[in-house]
Formats: sequence, structure tokens, C-alpha cells
Amino acid sequence: MIQVQDLCKSYHDKKRGTVNAVDRISFVCQPGEIYGLLGPNGAGKTTTLRLLSTVLTPDSGMAIVAGHDVARQPSLVRANIGFLSGDTGLYRRLTGREILRYFGSLYGIEKGLLNRRVQELSNILSMEDFIDARTDKLSTGQKQRISIARTVVHDPPVLILDEPTAGLDIIASRAIMEFILQARSTGKTIIFSTHVMSEAERLCDQIGIIHQGRMWAHGTQADLRRLYQCDDLESVFVRAVNLEPLPSLRV
Ligand SMILES: Nc1ncnc2c1ncn2[C@@H]1O[C@H](COP(=O)(O)OP(=O)(O)OP(=O)(O)O)[C@@H](O)[C@H]1O
Ligand SMILES: [Mg+2]
Repeated sequence: MIQVQDLCKSYHDKKRGTVNAVDRISFVCQPGEIYGLLGPNGAGKTTTLRLLSTVLTPDSGMAIVAGHDVARQPSLVRANIGFLSGDTGLYRRLTGREILRYFGSLYGIEKGLLNRRVQELSNILSMEDFIDARTDKLSTGQKQRISIARTVVHDPPVLILDEPTAGLDIIASRAIMEFILQARSTGKTIIFSTHVMSEAERLCDQIGIIHQGRMWAHGTQADLRRLYQCDDLESVFVRAVNLEPLPSLRV
């Protein structure tokens, strides 16, 4: 489970001064749930996900991930998450299978189990055709599937995915969405960011709309539609980011 309370992170920039990238954000995502973070460019989504992944340390506030505090027990948090960031790199000279075996062995997974796990991920993410090719020869979508497999090779209970389908075609996006749904059905706690409303509509149990570092609104899709009196998520989003945070929902 992910529990976030009044999380804050600011950056200090010579030209821009202090940027409150994440400003008192709170939410909860339960096991077996998918939480979607939506927000315009620069809203604070990546910063939030980096805080949850212990890549960044919060200035104040609290985040508990898989039962551990991100500030006090970062290594325990890291052992229990799979974090896909926009800049997750792959070793160019290695094949997908070699990369997955390498990362799996870093997590101490026994060889036989690891081989079965790699095969399972290859099936789920439809990687058969390219898992044994060097990654510098792969397309963007193929590399992204390898990156996602790498993120989850140790079968962590919590998945933190920053724009997992960015730049992918419909087939590749669908493969990744299916994978996320399957992960939910096995009880994983999943948080991801996206700019694709149809994706959020299909996947998310809860949605948080972030803007200027603040949680503008959050709830189930039905809650948000009711609140903003819109039938579709895109209209909810546009209304939400053009309005002041609603006092009743400000969190
Ligand atoms: N390393 C940094 N130094 C200074 N400012 C930063 C840094 N990283 C992010 N920011 C600023 O923090 C704010 C939030 O950025 P963040 O990357 O979290 O947004 P985002 O919601 O992920 O946006 P996008 O949809 O474009 O990915 C922005 O104003 C950004 O310019
Ligand atoms: Mg981002």
C-alpha cells in the first residue's frame, strides 16, 4: 500500500527561485488498486513518483510505501518497489533476456526461478520476437517493454510507473495496459502517471489531478465526474486544472 501525507518537495533554481514541485500532497493507494496521477506538464507527477521511489528525499511530510517510510527506510522501500522512470536506461550491448537475468540476479533470485520469471514476462509482454536481440537494435516500444519487465523482474508488491506508455503505439500501449491490469488482479499496489485520458479511464480505480504541485482533486472516476459535472475524464481534467482547488477536496 502507498500512504502519502502532506508531502513536500521544492527545488531551488537560480533563475526561477524556489519551485514548489510537490506541495502538501496526500493520498492513499490500496493493494489491488491502480492510482492514476494526471496533471499538465510541470505539475509535479514525476517529482511525486521519485519521492515515492526514494530517488528524492522529501522536504517534509510522510510517505509510507509497502509498510516502510521513504525517508527513514529507503532500502526497504526499494526492495519492495518496481520503479519505471522516463530515463530508465538499458545496456545497449546486452539482449533483453541478458538484462533481465542480470537485474534478477542482483535481487538474489535463484537461477531456475529467474529463468522461469523471464519467460513469464516475455509471454505477458509479448517479447518473444525480440527478447534475444541487442537492445540498441530495438524500437522505442520494444525497449519500453524490456524496461517494464526489468522494473518488475523481482515481482515487487508495489509498482511505480512514470508515463509507462509514453511514445508507444496502440498495440504496445495495450500490451502494457494489459500487464498493469494483470498486476492489479494479483493484488499489486500500482501508481502511474499519464497524459492519455483513455488509458486513465480504462485503468484507474482512483485518480489524483495534480497542478502546480498541489492535489487539485482526487477520487474515483465517478466521484470526479459528479464533482465537475462532466461525462468524460478529459473534460474533468480540463475543468479541474482551470479552476481553483475545491475546498471540499483540497488535500
Ligand atoms: N531537478 C530540478 N531542478 C529544478 N526544478 C525542477 C527539477 N525537476 C523538476 N523541476 C520542476 O518541478 C516542477 C515539477 O516537475 P515534474 O517533472 O515533477 O513535473 P511533471 O508533472 O512530471 O511534468 P511532465 O508532465 O512534463 O512530465 C516543474 O516546475 C519542474 O520545472
Ligand atoms: Mg513527468
